[in-house]
Amino acid sequence: MQYGYFDDLKREYVITDPRTPWPWINYLGNEDFFSLISNTAGGYSFYKDAKFRRITRYRYNNVPMDSGGKYFYIRDEDTVWNPGWKPCKTTLDAYECRHGMGYTVIRGSKNGIEAEVLCFVPLKTQAEVQKLTLRNQSGTTKKLKLFSFVEWCLWNAATDMENFQRNFSTGEVEVDGSVIYHKTEYRERRNHYAYYSVNQPVDGYDTDRETFFGLYNGFDEPQTVMDGAPRNSVAHGWSPVASHCLEINLDPGESKELVFVLGYVENAQDEKWESRNIINKDKAKATIARFDTAGKVDEAFAGLRAYWDNLLSNFNVRTPEEKLDRMVNTWNQYQCMITFCFSRSASYFESGIGRGMGFRDSNQDLIGFVHQIPERARQRIIDIASTQFPDGACYHQYQPLTKKGNNEIGQGFNDDPLWLILGTTAYIKETGDFAILDEPVPFDNVPGSEVPLFGHLTVSFDHVVNNLGPHGLPLIGRADWNDCLNLNCFSSDPDESFQTTENKTEGSKAESLMIAGLFTVYGRDYAELCKRLGRDEEAARAQKHVDAMVDAVTKSGWDGEWFLRAYDYFGNKIGSRENEEGQIFIESNGWCSMAGIGLGEGLVEKALDSVKERLDCEHGIVLNQPAYTEYHIGYGEISSYPPGYKENAGIFCHNNPWIIIGETVLGRGDRAWEYFRKICPSYTEPISDLHKVEPYVYAQMIAGKDAFRPGEAKNSWLTGTAAWNFYAVSQYILGIRPAYDRLEIDPCISPEWKTYGVTRKFRGATYHITVNNPGGKMKGVSSVIVNGKPVEGNVVPVQPAGSVCEVEVIL
Ligand code: BGC
Ligand code: NOJ
Repeated sequence: MQYGYFDDLKREYVITDPRTPWPWINYLGNEDFFSLISNTAGGYSFYKDAKFRRITRYRYNNVPMDSGGKYFYIRDEDTVWNPGWKPCKTTLDAYECRHGMGYTVIRGSKNGIEAEVLCFVPLKTQAEVQKLTLRNQSGTTKKLKLFSFVEWCLWNAATDMENFQRNFSTGEVEVDGSVIYHKTEYRERRNHYAYYSVNQPVDGYDTDRETFFGLYNGFDEPQTVMDGAPRNSVAHGWSPVASHCLEINLDPGESKELVFVLGYVENAQDEKWESRNIINKDKAKATIARFDTAGKVDEAFAGLRAYWDNLLSNFNVRTPEEKLDRMVNTWNQYQCMITFCFSRSASYFESGIGRGMGFRDSNQDLIGFVHQIPERARQRIIDIASTQFPDGACYHQYQPLTKKGNNEIGQGFNDDPLWLILGTTAYIKETGDFAILDEPVPFDNVPGSEVPLFGHLTVSFDHVVNNLGPHGLPLIGRADWNDCLNLNCFSSDPDESFQTTENKTEGSKAESLMIAGLFTVYGRDYAELCKRLGRDEEAARAQKHVDAMVDAVTKSGWDGEWFLRAYDYFGNKIGSRENEEGQIFIESNGWCSMAGIGLGEGLVEKALDSVKERLDCEHGIVLNQPAYTEYHIGYGEISSYPPGYKENAGIFCHNNPWIIIGETVLGRGDRAWEYFRKICPSYTEPISDLHKVEPYVYAQMIAGKDAFRPGEAKNSWLTGTAAWNFYAVSQYILGIRPAYDRLEIDPCISPEWKTYGVTRKFRGATYHITVNNPGGKMKGVSSVIVNGKPVEGNVVPVQPAGSVCEVEVIL
């Protein structure tokens, strides 16, 4: 069952029933000011950091789900309703929510009145703009009362939820005409405030929550709205909110447009005040003035649309599969931008207070994003690398506001350093900007400790080399990519975190085959990079270590039919036929296959056939089999999940593309394609009621075959799945692969595809690529013609910036 449809031309997903199986959300904002908005207008806003600069309040995991948001209440005679159906849930005559690129339009109709709310964060603006259009489609004159509503959060989203003995006394607001200012703690240590305005004189307002709602009422029946009478309350402590009341008369056929601005301002220390206790409102007023007419809003909106059209024009495909096209051309790239902006911090599954930017996550996110705005990717790489330690170890996370490593989680995830090689080389391959390697970048943000970025890659590489276990395989540390395979944790205390506890480390023999494969892939990339830089000695040294790793994997990492997953603390195998549970895992088989270890001897083929046989199911490839059915203290969090969920045999969508890429190494395009379709949201759209989360973005996890409801997905939006699937489909299935000095064309497709086209912008030139497959092949380019001239091999040389080139490829 579906709850909407894709509008491909507009790049929108159109939700036609507000009762989606889970809130289906969208993100507004590109750089600093962000909002999350659900299809029923739930959600919240923040500036840069969802923990430290939360602007509006949101209650996660509430009853009913998704309570709290930015609501408009319309009072028409005795009927009160909301354009997004919630929170009043008055039955609407019509409802539609259109989630687009950085904007959402919610439209509802009741008793002849149509209300349409367009929400977006204009480019270069620290505010969300809401344009509300009211249309009288009835034959009679309507006298409406409109109430807006947002609830202020007291900035720090964590303490906002716990320190009520203080919070209930600190809240402060100012009301000035049609603008309500939230200035809690501005007198003391803060230099920022928020505001909510409307571009028309108001007939009343409220800023005290209990006055607005009445102490015993919910979001669905605010007392002032029910009475049709604002109280002009001014909050002193308790819980400040902002609500405007406007009386609106509409003749038959008449419509009115109102503009609301929800903004954030920072003032310099000596510019904080206009007069004693009166905040300096200049910046707020300037922003409000930029959007004080509907025309100005429309113009800004057109700017945002043009911005996205331009971003998405960098990679565009036309294949025989409409569902693939809409994913690749629009939604997958959009999701990549979102994961780039938020890492794993704020979604409807990540509370915005738990995690900052992940070291490994942000590096991986780059590969889905770097072709969109390479300059921002460049800055990100430098920010991430600045949190690294001199020995190559890395803070697992850093806070976006301070860009400093997060001490609470610390270091010790031994895959982390390698992802910096991926992020950096992906950036250079996209841009040709080798100069980034000369940028001075500190360690642990300590001034004076700077070395060229290249030095960070070296210590990343060496961190593995310097931390090998008894089999010559990489020591796993607290965990590798799989945060839940905690082989040194040994926790029997529920109050300990699996991620930060190491009850046994001394003498640990725990080694990871996943890191071994990863090291082989990115160690080779590092060696290749060294060669290009003329550092032949370093290249040879690196190559030696990579070769040794391949030997170690071949010798101690092969289980007969597939690659082992790990050795535990005691040196016993994990992911082996010898185990009762957890005999085979996806990660090591993905990475060792991508590395092509034992390719010539048939190991990759065997490993991937085993994956097909043992891990694949109707909804995708599960992480491990058999699922753990009991807690293994020596394995940690992985065995704490019920079978079929998350890292314990869930379909962890993030690593399905590793198998897909592995299949392309073998040239099995049909299988790669089959795996791709299984987890691709536009293909699962028809089972939305089972799948539950948004059909336009990837989810981190789909419940596996051992679960109670196989096929049910969770953790949509903020997942490495977005970048990896875009990378897999664009570079390995469609086969358009940026390289240091050229574009490589190496498709691996379903034999049924006869032809497809790709438009790729690369270093300022535009490549129109047509791939023809007259022989029904899966892989292997037989000829490439560039601007009418045949070229050697399957590479297209970099074309002059500004030029347009035609590339014809025959398989
Ligand atoms: C989850 C992992 C996640 C980790 C982050 C675990 O509970 O299962 O997916 O990476 O927490 O700390
Ligand atoms: C989610 C985390 O964000 C990511 O870093 C990790 O690799 C996966 N979970 C697997 O545990």
